[in-house]
Amino acid sequence: MARALQPKDADTVASRLLDASARGSYDPHIDIDWDAPLEDGKAYMPLERVSLYGTDLWRGLSDEQRIELSKHEIASIASVGLWFEIVLMQLLVRYVYDLDPRSPHAQYALTEIGDETRHSIMFAKAITRFGAPAYGPVKLIHTAGKVYGALAGGPSMFGAVLVAEEATDRLQRATMDNPDMQPLIRMVNRIHVVEEARHVRFAREAVLRDVPKLNRAQLEAHRWVLALTAYGVMDAMINPRVYRSVGIEPRQGRAVAMANPHHHETRRWMTEKVMAFLTGAGLVGGPSKSILRAAHLV
Ligand SMILES: [Fe+2]
Ligand SMILES: [Fe+2]
Repeated sequence: MARALQPKDADTVASRLLDASARGSYDPHIDIDWDAPLEDGKAYMPLERVSLYGTDLWRGLSDEQRIELSKHEIASIASVGLWFEIVLMQLLVRYVYDLDPRSPHAQYALTEIGDETRHSIMFAKAITRFGAPAYGPVKLIHTAGKVYGALAGGPSMFGAVLVAEEATDRLQRATMDNPDMQPLIRMVNRIHVVEEARHVRFAREAVLRDVPKLNRAQLEAHRWVLALTAYGVMDAMINPRVYRSVGIEPRQGRAVAMANPHHHETRRWMTEKVMAFLTGAGLVGGPSKSILRAAHLV
């Protein structure tokens, strides 16, 4: 861990990431068979990670309904992921604006924007294929994302990017190698995991480089922004409207999920690795940690 927390030269890291991108990048139009049939009886995400798992409401659902809810929850997570990617593209465009375009660092930032445009199309096509709505985050968070995309920067920006990327990564890894899951979502997840590993590296290195440059007051400010953003993004992933797909009122489904210890555990599981990293890097800590605790992220 101590060795991993030493930042490396930005252009050296970016050069390696550019090489890796050239070797392994995917095009959702070509690399996924969108016409392949969906398989009956296969879930869209591990059922024990569905927000109502283990509750009385869950026990009241048939096997078909449980699979249906898994489909709508993964569609919601994909649509919120897609929304966050669009915010991230804005952040990266603003970030690269000030960089020397000849540098590998700038060129990797541009490459990542390219990756995210393809991811957003891939998630949109998956949601369409599943016949699910493009849920997205609730309105308040949708609006907040617009402000955040226009203003955010510095270590808390890369920290928030890591929370979103690493949390979804954990769920996607648990799905992609699982033969009980729908082949289509496994393929989508596999592509995303491969490309996101590079983004995670890029963002982690940026955090390690930039946090030590902050003074005490700036560090605390970035910790607060990061905690609030992490809360907003993670809380937005399951749009309450998903519960309607199995005849449960959104308000009731949301209340039951928020009181569900299995769901709390799932949230902590999703963010376990990234929170350990951010704590080691100094971006998680101090009074703002109470927000992360309330959101079941630490
Ligand atoms: Fe992505
Ligand atoms: Fe990414």
